[in-house]
Amino acid sequence: MMLPNVPGLDHVAIAVKDLEKAIAFYQDTYGLALAEIEEVKEQQVRTAIFGHGMGRIELICPTASDTGVARFLEKRGEGLHHICIEVDDIHASLARLKAQGAMLIDETPKMGAGGAQIAFVHPKGSHGVLTELRQGPSKIQASP
Ligand code: CO
Repeated sequence: MMLPNVPGLDHVAIAVKDLEKAIAFYQDTYGLALAEIEEVKEQQVRTAIFGHGMGRIELICPTASDTGVARFLEKRGEGLHHICIEVDDIHASLARLKAQGAMLIDETPKMGAGGAQIAFVHPKGSHGVLTELRQGPSKIQASP
């Protein structure tokens, strides 16, 4: 079974230890344009986004030492942290994944960068890659 109406890769996220240094590298060495820097309080990270629309690159840097991203950096060092797939209906996607026995980290969506609803699927349930599902703000219906 496939997830319904999945537009594709939204972004890849790279965990970094020093956000400013990493931003400078991506700007100066790869020549990428920085779109925005955002602190996501709910996730205790600062993010820097390069590019617009599909296929963005997101640098993530923890703002606290007891978070998943901080533990990732401690254990494995800098590197690819997760990929993110844009979905039209995150609740339907999570229900489908759960029915198929996928290992969900978040059974219900939480607030992510840019006002999106996000949920993570465990790498063990996603061929070794931590995977974020994201329903962008334009697709989130106001609750009645
Ligand atoms: Co992400």
